[in-house]
Amino acid sequence: METFRTLNALKKALVQIRRRGETIALVPTMGYLHEGHLQLVRTARQSADRVIVSLYVNPFQFAPSEDFSSYPRTPEADAEALRRENVDGLFLPATEELYPRPPEAMTFVEVPGLSDTLCGAFRAGHFRGVATVVLKLFHLIQPDTAVFGEKDLQQLVLIRRLVEDLHLPIQIVGVPTVREADGLAKSSRNSYLSAIERPLAGALFAALNEAASALGRGPSAWGEIALKGQQVLEAKGFEVDYFAIRRLDDLEIPGPLERRLVILVAARLGRTRLIDNLSVDEALG
Ligand code: PAJ
Repeated sequence: METFRTLNALKKALVQIRRRGETIALVPTMGYLHEGHLQLVRTARQSADRVIVSLYVNPFQFAPSEDFSSYPRTPEADAEALRRENVDGLFLPATEELYPRPPEAMTFVEVPGLSDTLCGAFRAGHFRGVATVVLKLFHLIQPDTAVFGEKDLQQLVLIRRLVEDLHLPIQIVGVPTVREADGLAKSSRNSYLSAIERPLAGALFAALNEAASALGRGPSAWGEIALKGQQVLEAKGFEVDYFAIRRLDDLEIPGPLERRLVILVAARLGRTRLIDNLSVDEALG
């Protein structure tokens, strides 16, 4: 595995790859890699000749009150895990190169609407930061395929929208959420959970499943089902940002005839903010 720390080193390697006519799959990450990330890497491995993983804790997707400085960073262990997965290139960009201007003069890309709902309503500027860094990575690497996790469903839907609206010739592949034995979605932020909080965290996925099995009661019950999900979690000590039933494709509020639904939740347990979602095709239920 080659490691690229500068745009120049990356560009040189890309010229070689392209000269050989090989395809590239990109997996963007912020590191502290777990099985969820590695599942993305394995999917990428099957999608293209060369796999490039980027590892960059992007400061511009964290609000000032959030955990940018305490976000876990384990670059050596990450590199070792990626080597074992036969990754070809690890891109570790430096902020000075990725963002050559001071914040007040930076170019950003916006995906309105999708950026403002659900997590966007609680994390000011988050999705603008995500869209901007991912677009930079897309331009720098020009992958044929890019792989993202369904765990961050709003992010996945937003990236698909960005690619469609800007006519980027990149295939976006979503990978199902990898979970712990009790259903908790694997996440770098799970390491913030205390020994007391960790056994409670499985309740998030349990609440999603409970809501999903109640959806058959019909659209008139959706509001009540979402409220119940929120209340169940609050009773267990979560502070719930949202518990919502949305349209799977664009995360809009569903009309009564909608059959492709997703239930999304974001809730805090102590200082840890957890998100999860469960898609439900009502036609199957
Ligand atoms: P990060 O949180 O490191 O996640 C990188 C990728 O791994 C994302 O596509 C995310 O959805 C996926 N992922 C995380 N946990 C997963 C799980 N349990 N199962 C399946 N996939 C999982 O998401 C980001 O970084 C950043 O916002 C980024 C896209 C890199 C832009 O900075």
